[in-house]
Amino acid sequence: MAVTETRSVVLRTEIPGPQSRAIIARREAATPTGLYKAHPIAVDHADGALVTDVDGNTFIDFVGGIGVLNVGHCPPEVVTAIQAQAARMLHFSALVGTYEPYVELCERINHLAPIDGPRKTILANSGAEAVENAIKIARAATGRPAIIAFDGGYHGRTLLTLSLTSKTTFKRHVGPFAPEVYRAPFPYTYQMRDIEGMPINSDEAASICISQLERMFLTHVDASTVAAIIIEPVQGEGGFIPVPPAYMQQLRALCDRIGAVLIADEVQCGFGRTGTLFAMEQMGVAPDLLISAKSIAAGMPLAAVTGRAALMDSIPLGGIGGTYSGNPLACVAAIEVLKLMPELMPRASAIGAAVRQRGDEWMRDVSFVGDVRGLGAMVAIEIVADRVKRTPDVATTQRIIETCLQRGLITMRAGLFTNCIRLLMPLSITGEQLTEGLTILDGAIRDVAAQR
Ligand SMILES: Cc1ncc(COP(=O)(O)O)c(C=O)c1O
Repeated sequence: MAVTETRSVVLRTEIPGPQSRAIIARREAATPTGLYKAHPIAVDHADGALVTDVDGNTFIDFVGGIGVLNVGHCPPEVVTAIQAQAARMLHFSALVGTYEPYVELCERINHLAPIDGPRKTILANSGAEAVENAIKIARAATGRPAIIAFDGGYHGRTLLTLSLTSKTTFKRHVGPFAPEVYRAPFPYTYQMRDIEGMPINSDEAASICISQLERMFLTHVDASTVAAIIIEPVQGEGGFIPVPPAYMQQLRALCDRIGAVLIADEVQCGFGRTGTLFAMEQMGVAPDLLISAKSIAAGMPLAAVTGRAALMDSIPLGGIGGTYSGNPLACVAAIEVLKLMPELMPRASAIGAAVRQRGDEWMRDVSFVGDVRGLGAMVAIEIVADRVKRTPDVATTQRIIETCLQRGLITMRAGLFTNCIRLLMPLSITGEQLTEGLTILDGAIRDVAAQR
């Protein structure tokens, strides 16, 4: 096969190449089929926004380990800090004693979190584990059992977090689910209609959803039993849908009125992705608890729950923590990530603007591009069979993603209806790489459109 070389993408074999195919075959024999993989490639190494597979093919990465690599693959400052910490101490456990990186990281996050009053932070290993901790803290603080989560929300795959997660695809065959979880409508403006079937704007979506939530206190759950409302300020798996700030402000007022804890799940939208360290900074109100994970530590397994100190202290001694939680390697990585953020965060709006500029062209030229939306550099393209009915088109979505891969660009789908292409390129991506990646995406969208 001819070698195709542009500036960053280098394709030396067919995709997947022979070495990738061999490793994938071993994966399929050695691991359960339930372990999803978006792409048939086996990777060897990565740097910044580029990933090279075991056949020597180099791709531009618009997925960033599903929003984990806002600082890019292997930033030298993070790698050096991990190497130095690895030579000094791999593990001790915060349940056994204290090591400074754990404390320093919590201090830094407390200082930066958009939460009123004194704050405290507990570290965990994964987004799901942090969500579990946040729910425990809310229940201990309020003495109440019920949790309200949202249509389209994603909070993880452990049993409680899967109970909070909405999309049934993730939930097949593994119930029964945890009790006292109630689901409210989410202001997914693009797929909502008024009573005459006409499209609505985000203010109307917010007001419909808040009145349906208020109604739930009559039909589903007594308000006095609600411990917490958990919401993603920008829904991730649900299709990159920013919460209208007016809706978040109404939720804040509602939580204050009924005495419930407002939990912001910023696992996917946090750590600079939307142009501010936390998306809640753009919502005009503060949560009581805020959950971080993914991009917090550049790929090291780490998560955090940060909250009002009085709430955080409501769990009795021994009620939170874990053997590995806040591993020293992960903590030093996260400290370096926080040092990189002031320089990288402003890139989010420039990246978002570049994607949206293409998005405007697709909206103008390509009938199946229904919506291009998001916040900062968290942008998704919703693909529909027709623009009037807004019918989700999963097959076309998948065809575009596969075409991109064949041309050297890694993207991934999302959405309640699995009809969104989500873009989570590292904020460290260079201007040339961004343009090259967007040009591949543009070509894939237009070629798929031409074949229909
Ligand atoms: C908003 C949100 N919450 C929680 C999680 C679960 O995180 P993890 O996969 O680290 O358990 C995810 C993962 O995608 C997420 O996007």
